[in-house]
Amino acid sequence: MKTAVTKAVIPAAGFGTRMLPFTKAVPKELIPLVDKPVLQYVVEEAVASGIEDILIVISAGKEAIIRHFNPAPDLESRLEESGRHEMLAEIQSISKLARIHYVYQQKLRGLGDAVRLAENFAGDDPVAILLGDTVLDSASDRPVTGQLIDAYARCGTSVIALDEVPPEKVSRYGIADAEVAADGLLKLRDLLEKPSPERAPSRLAVTARYLFTPGIFAALRAVAPGLNGEVQLTDAVRLLLRREPVFGCRIAGRRFDLGSKAGFIAANVEFAMRRPELQEALGKQLKHLLFPETKLKN
Ligand code: G1P
Repeated sequence: MKTAVTKAVIPAAGFGTRMLPFTKAVPKELIPLVDKPVLQYVVEEAVASGIEDILIVISAGKEAIIRHFNPAPDLESRLEESGRHEMLAEIQSISKLARIHYVYQQKLRGLGDAVRLAENFAGDDPVAILLGDTVLDSASDRPVTGQLIDAYARCGTSVIALDEVPPEKVSRYGIADAEVAADGLLKLRDLLEKPSPERAPSRLAVTARYLFTPGIFAALRAVAPGLNGEVQLTDAVRLLLRREPVFGCRIAGRRFDLGSKAGFIAANVEFAMRRPELQEALGKQLKHLLFPETKLKN
C-alpha cells in the first residue's frame, strides 16, 4: 500500500430530496455558494490537500456534473473573443483541477454502495472520501482533507473527520464512541448511524470526510443493507473496526450545513460577505432587511 494519499472519491449520486424542487433537474452538488457550485469547493479542497485523481460517483440525470468539470470550447472561444481573459482563465482552470473520473451508481442503494464502486479505482492505495454536498471551511491553511491525511501519516490507518454537534442534532449523523488516543486523535470503539439522543454515545458526529485503508472495501462487500434498506458506510466502518484500528480526528474548521434551506441561505450570505466586491452593497441590503428603519441609499 502506498503511504502518500493521492486518490479521492466523491459520492454525488443521491436525489437531494431536501432541496426539491431545485434538485428535480439539477444535481444538488451543483447548487451554488455565491457563484461556484458546492462540488467545485469540494474538488478544490481535495486538490489543495494533495489529491491528484478523483472518482466522482454520479447517477443517471446528473451529467451536468461531468459538463462542469469538462472543457467548454464554445464558451471559452466566446470569452476569448470578447476579451474576458480573467473569466476565461478561471473557466479553463476548472477542467485542469485534477484527473477526474466518473462511475455510475445504477441503483441508489446508499452511501456504502456508492463507495463500494470505488474499489478498483482505489486498488491497494489509501483513499479519501469527501461527501459532495458538504463544504468545510478550515480554521488553518490546511484543508480538512489535508488534516485527515496528516493524521493518517501519524497513525497509519483509517481516520474519520469528527465534529461536535448539539444533542438535538445527533440523530442526523453517524455518532462516534471513542477514547482519547496519542497524537491528538481518538480511537474509535464503535460508530452508530443516526442514533436517538438517548442512545448516542457522544456528540461527536462523522463530518463528510473519511480516509480509508483498502480494508474498507472488504468490509463493504460483507455488510448487508441496514438503516432505510441502504448499504451504510457506517456499518462497514463498524466491521472494519473489528479487523483493524480506526481513528477519529476532530476537525479544525467549520461545516456548512447546505442540506437545510436555512443553512444554505445563511452560507450564501456568509460567503458573499467575504467578497470585497459584494460586501458593501449586500451589507446595506441586509441591514435594511433586519432593521427596516435603516435608509437604503444608492
Ligand atoms: C452521511 C453518513 C453519516 C454522516 C453524514 C455527514 O449521512 O451516513 O454517518 O454523519 O453523512 O457526514 P447523510 O447525510 O448522507 O444522511
